[in-house]
Amino acid sequence: MAKIREHSLISPSILAADFARLGEDVKDVCDRGIDYLHVDVMDGAFVPNISFGAAVMKSLNDIATVPYDVHLMVEEPIRYIKDFVTDNTEFITVHQEACKDLAGTLKAIHDLGIKTGVSIKPGTAPEVLDEFLPDIDMILVMSVEPGFGGQKFMDNSLPKISYYRDKREELGLDYLIEVDGGIGSGNAHLVRDAGVDVIVAGSAVFKAADRTAEIKGIKNL
Ligand code: DX5
Ligand code: ZN
Repeated sequence: MAKIREHSLISPSILAADFARLGEDVKDVCDRGIDYLHVDVMDGAFVPNISFGAAVMKSLNDIATVPYDVHLMVEEPIRYIKDFVTDNTEFITVHQEACKDLAGTLKAIHDLGIKTGVSIKPGTAPEVLDEFLPDIDMILVMSVEPGFGGQKFMDNSLPKISYYRDKREELGLDYLIEVDGGIGSGNAHLVRDAGVDVIVAGSAVFKAADRTAEIKGIKNL
């Protein structure tokens, strides 16, 4: 049985921040013990919503004290990867469903010195990534339909998380497993028990009355 992490890493999604005071909100959460900043980029084509682009992310470069975990919900993201490369960028995650040439897209990310992430939507079977696993640094399992924050957690993400945890052990790989959508301190134990490493949380963190307590609850500190 593969080992389970006692304390998760957390990546708050700035999609749920107050955009009128984005810098202050980002500084605030960075000061409360987070591991990454999750940057949700939506193109209005791959998903039915438009969020923000690289310029907004780059406006945070001198404010963010943790690395960017960029989630591109964009058709053919290979066209935009270069725009998201900064000294703060650790992961660029693309959707399997959005790439004609996933292997080429992952190579393009690695060639820029950035770690690769691949995400799958709730309706996508985990096996679609089998042949790509050696080239993936993080797998992002969606636990809502991508496009909007504040949706309800879907528990069909749980067996997918465990699938990737078991595959990692079987193949001797070391990618991280991340989950995104509808998670807060009340249900984080579900994804932790399934074997997740990194928890994305938007509304739960940014709308919390006590953000530090919420972050600690999600991380199980
Ligand atoms: C959904 C985004 C998520 C979302 C998470 O398309 O990828 O990152 O903002 O937000 P919450 O935690 O509010 O579900
Ligand atoms: Zn996301």
